[in-house]
Amino acid sequence: MRIIRSVSEIQEWSSAERRAGKSIGFVPTMGALHLGHAELFRRSVAENQRTVVSIFVNSLQFNNASDLEAYPRQLEQDLLIAERENIDVLFVPNPEEMYPEGFSSIISVGSIAKNMEGLHRPGHFDGVATVVVKLLNAVAPTGSYFGEKDFQQVAVIRQVVRDLNISCEIVSVPTVRDEYGLALSSRNARLTPDQLAQAPQIYVLLDEITKMSRTTKMSSRTIQEHFTNGIESSTAGTVEYIEIVDSLTLNPIATTYEGTTICVAVWFDDVRLIDNVSI
Ligand code: PAF
Repeated sequence: MRIIRSVSEIQEWSSAERRAGKSIGFVPTMGALHLGHAELFRRSVAENQRTVVSIFVNSLQFNNASDLEAYPRQLEQDLLIAERENIDVLFVPNPEEMYPEGFSSIISVGSIAKNMEGLHRPGHFDGVATVVVKLLNAVAPTGSYFGEKDFQQVAVIRQVVRDLNISCEIVSVPTVRDEYGLALSSRNARLTPDQLAQAPQIYVLLDEITKMSRTTKMSSRTIQEHFTNGIESSTAGTVEYIEIVDSLTLNPIATTYEGTTICVAVWFDDVRLIDNVSI
């Protein structure tokens, strides 16, 4: 596995590979790799002749300095995981490489980025869009792979890629869960054993709601009450939001139908977990 740290070097590598007719799959990450990332890597490796993974903790997408500070960093371990997953190139730029002095262009994403994560983490998606476009311009991949746990992020990236004529297929990969249903996330590492035992309740409730709404249409208000009461009565978690939205437009809806997604954010102390299910 080759490790590349500069934008110019990855651009040269990528042009040479494309000239040689190779397809390039790309998985952007912020490190602290887990089995959810490994699933993205495997899809990319299976579908492309070359796979690039980037590790870059993007300060621009953190609206909260303590969250950025607390974000887990474990480069040594990540290198081993990437190697084991047959990644060809690990792109690990430092902050000065991505945001050199004088950097001043931020992508501003429209309505799709304004509710849910966008509302609760102001500026988050502008930061995500900016770094993803920079990474796509650096790696110039054939396809780029994202996890469906970050449902709104995938929608935002599809929108930006379409709007800015970026020639890259965006592939979304189903959420990987632990044996109790908890969606894998780098943030899970910060949960205490008690919180880790309670957090799967997020998916237990979402799954219950999905099954109920397959047989009867449910109002968003009923779903919101059921979920919030369920979390707050049986765990130490606090619901930040539960939104029931159209899966394509992400606009809030009043009653469920096929093509509805339920998105949630739950705090366990200072750890924020997100999840979603589509009906
Ligand atoms: O999903 C993530 O880990 C990040 O938001 C991403 C896409 C790597 C951009 O920093």
